[in-house]
Amino acid sequence: MRGGLAAFLALLLFLGAGQTAAEDPPILVRRAPTEGARDPGASLWKSISPTRIPLKGQDVAPPYGGGAVAAVDVRAIHDGKVAIFLLEWADPTKDAAGAEIGSFGDAGAVMFPLVADDPPGPHMGHRYLGDRNAVVNIWRYRADTDAAEDLNAAGIGTLLTQDRQDVSARGQHDGRGWRIAFWRRLRTDDEWDAQFGPGLRTWLNVVVWDGSRGERAGQKSVSDRWHRVIFEAR
Ligand code: HEM
Repeated sequence: MRGGLAAFLALLLFLGAGQTAAEDPPILVRRAPTEGARDPGASLWKSISPTRIPLKGQDVAPPYGGGAVAAVDVRAIHDGKVAIFLLEWADPTKDAAGAEIGSFGDAGAVMFPLVADDPPGPHMGHRYLGDRNAVVNIWRYRADTDAAEDLNAAGIGTLLTQDRQDVSARGQHDGRGWRIAFWRRLRTDDEWDAQFGPGLRTWLNVVVWDGSRGERAGQKSVSDRWHRVIFEAR
């Protein structure tokens, strides 16, 4: 095989690497009653085993940076109607002030592909606007507004806030770190929402921002690959 072609294929392989990793444990969305689980501190969450997702500073696209948070634990349940994802990470400072110039609030987000069996790149999708496969649905919790946002992106610089906000969230800081519970109906009639259901297999990526370390926008702690999500069927 000619040198140039071999090198090109090697590059393709390298770019493809990191999309998913077979050794990553899947995030199991357990079938369980959801009453009380919108409270991120609810004791029922102790009975749901977490999947730990390692994070690192964003080093793929400028503005590079972040990395203050080393990992986030993800727990998830559904009752056949509603799904709740709990994110938990260590951050001893609660930064809820985002409004003042130069200060940034803590935040956390999860990202799902719109098309589960052909996910786009784990870096906020990719830029072929109009190609449904390119689009991701992002749920972001911001400490400064103590609320969730339902967003879409098809690559860096293309983030849009949805007209219809279907996701809700509640955050809790216990002096050691954050717990954020995101919840939404499994199915919505918004074509820009990722759709879920019992037995469904999809993907998730996650980021967190530590405001006290000046993290915002592209400067954040992120996982560089998709993580398998499996909704329990029974
Ligand atoms: C390694 C992968 C990633 C890279 C290289 C990246 C890069 C960037 C960059 C450059 C920006 C600023 C420009 C813009 O607004 O688009 C940004 C903003 C943003 N990213 Fe990412 N990102 C990555 C992964 C993610 C993931 C997995 C999520 C969600 C779970 C996410 C959510 C966001 C959000 C919500 C913003 C807007 C922040 C704001 O307005 O303050 N990103 N990202």
